[in-house]
Amino acid sequence: MTDARLVAEVSEAGGLGILGPHAGQTTNPKSNEEVIGRMRTEIRKVQSLTDKPFGIPVMIAGNPDVYPLMVDLILEENVPVVLINGIDAAFFKIFKEAGRKILCRPLDVTPENAREAERLGADIIIATGFDEGGTLPSKTIGTFSVTSQIAHAVTIPVMSAGGITDVHGVRSVFALGAEGVYAGTLFLATLESRMADSVKKMVVNSSADDLLMFRSALSFYRSLPTPFAYKLVEMDKAGKSTEEITNVLVSNQGMRVGMVEGNLEEGYISVGNGITYIKEIRSVKAVINDVMQDFI
Ligand SMILES: Cc1cc2nc3c(=O)[nH]c(=O)nc-3n(C[C@H](O)[C@H](O)[C@H](O)COP(=O)(O)O)c2cc1C
Repeated sequence: MTDARLVAEVSEAGGLGILGPHAGQTTNPKSNEEVIGRMRTEIRKVQSLTDKPFGIPVMIAGNPDVYPLMVDLILEENVPVVLINGIDAAFFKIFKEAGRKILCRPLDVTPENAREAERLGADIIIATGFDEGGTLPSKTIGTFSVTSQIAHAVTIPVMSAGGITDVHGVRSVFALGAEGVYAGTLFLATLESRMADSVKKMVVNSSADDLLMFRSALSFYRSLPTPFAYKLVEMDKAGKSTEEITNVLVSNQGMRVGMVEGNLEEGYISVGNGITYIKEIRSVKAVINDVMQDFI
């Protein structure tokens, strides 16, 4: 769902843009080298659009063959910030030694793994609650509870993630001890996002009440109601295995098909509970100025 344009715009506006693991993807990649090549292109585009910091992820729960290639890419292309979706001492060591900033976002964050991330040198820990868009944590702890829990556990700054789409959400998690927010859904319905215009309108006209939820690998997944998402809900209700549901979920690049191409028959729309407060399509700059209004 990300690309260089969106990421550069977030960084230019005072946020920290993060290229997703499939940034700029328009077709199903045929090899890991193709994935890395496309990512390199997106990184260079970001660098041509802004001199502000930005980051890219190393996924610990993704395709393990890609990680070493991604590590090399980050080092070769001088990407200043790394998002590590888990705890891996070897990765931490490589990036610390190379002087890169580490945002650590375990998919299931706990006081124990947050302390371990701090010990290994993470600069920021991200506390993600069940309100988020994308892959949900396997425990159903909401954003408020998890933010408070992690803020009490570590001394490094905590970013709170999950369902934060307006200034009230930002103020709430700061009151609980967060010193930053990590937002995904918020940027989907912006002018610069590559999401289809029809889907942006759907987000603006929907609320958290509309969201469907079904089992998938790791835990659960949410989608706005599309014919494809109803099919996954029916599979869940019929007692199909999590593996079968996940195979259908990922088989046809359903995120890109649904969200970028706007094909709701064959795709889904992954958003978090914060969509309730997204009421207009705005520029990234307007969104950041609004949610961070207490700090500028
Ligand atoms: C469509 C979508 C895809 C996402 N994919 C990833 C991903 O591949 N890696 C990652 O670290 N975060 C990803 N995220 C981010 C988080 O799952 C989530 O958005 C973030 O923690 C904040 O929650 P929010 O979407 O409610 O703002 C994705 C989010 C969305 C909405």
